[in-house]
Amino acid sequence: MNGRITILCENSVGPLSGTLGEHGFAALIEPSDGKPILFDTGQGLTLLHNARRMNKDLSTVGQVVLSHGHYDHTGGLKSLLEECGPKRVSCHPSLFTPRYRVKDNGEWYPITIPSSCEELEALGAFFEFSTEFRAIAPGIYMTGEVPRVTDFETGDQGLYRDSDGRERDMTPDDQSLLLDTERGVVLILGCCHAGLINTLEHVAVMTGRRDIFAVIGGTHLGFCGLEQMNRTVAALRDWGVKKMAASHCTGFAASLRLAREFPKGFQAAMVGYTLEV
Ligand SMILES: [Fe+2]
Ligand SMILES: [Fe+2]
Repeated sequence: MNGRITILCENSVGPLSGTLGEHGFAALIEPSDGKPILFDTGQGLTLLHNARRMNKDLSTVGQVVLSHGHYDHTGGLKSLLEECGPKRVSCHPSLFTPRYRVKDNGEWYPITIPSSCEELEALGAFFEFSTEFRAIAPGIYMTGEVPRVTDFETGDQGLYRDSDGRERDMTPDDQSLLLDTERGVVLILGCCHAGLINTLEHVAVMTGRRDIFAVIGGTHLGFCGLEQMNRTVAALRDWGVKKMAASHCTGFAASLRLAREFPKGFQAAMVGYTLEV
């Protein structure tokens, strides 16, 4: 496929005046032929506003893809449906599973999708649940569940299925979007809780492709340990990823590290960032 990718929701804004930031992520994929695809929806505070500011008519979106069930990727779905009418929504079957962030001091807060399945269906969501790698449009794929094969991607230690912090949430629903473009594979991440290198390995297994042109979105490296960061950087060098447009849960310190390690390839994918492929 070819087309354009635009970041609609992110923690930071770029130079486009009048756009707003929030802790969250959403990207619009506009193929040159075919309807736009919305990958994630932010937490719901900025999606419609930023889309309007960027002259993106979200009523033309053909389908919504949700990377995983956290509120900062799914919270905008309700307002999207209210404003733009019924949409097909591709996601993992455990999208609505309760999830919590539990801090070391025992404080906790819920990070589950803020609307119920019934509420969203009543507003016109038509859910297509799948755990599998699959094509969702010509040249556009969802990774499905990502096997955890590396020994260093131990993930975010603060995510749980219960507010007492007894059962860790490995976020099995986490999946990414894959674009097969003339410039190579473009990988768009939500939070990449599965681990960036696990995700790249899974892409290679499913497609036979190791030519990664760009990685865009949340890497979650900001919530992981130093060893994971160091070994991810080493693996990214081996992979020869050309463009690292990290943002969202990558965080400031990990973004600085990536910018230093990949001075030619790093860009911050803030609100308004676009990539033509
Ligand atoms: Fe996130
Ligand atoms: Fe997340």
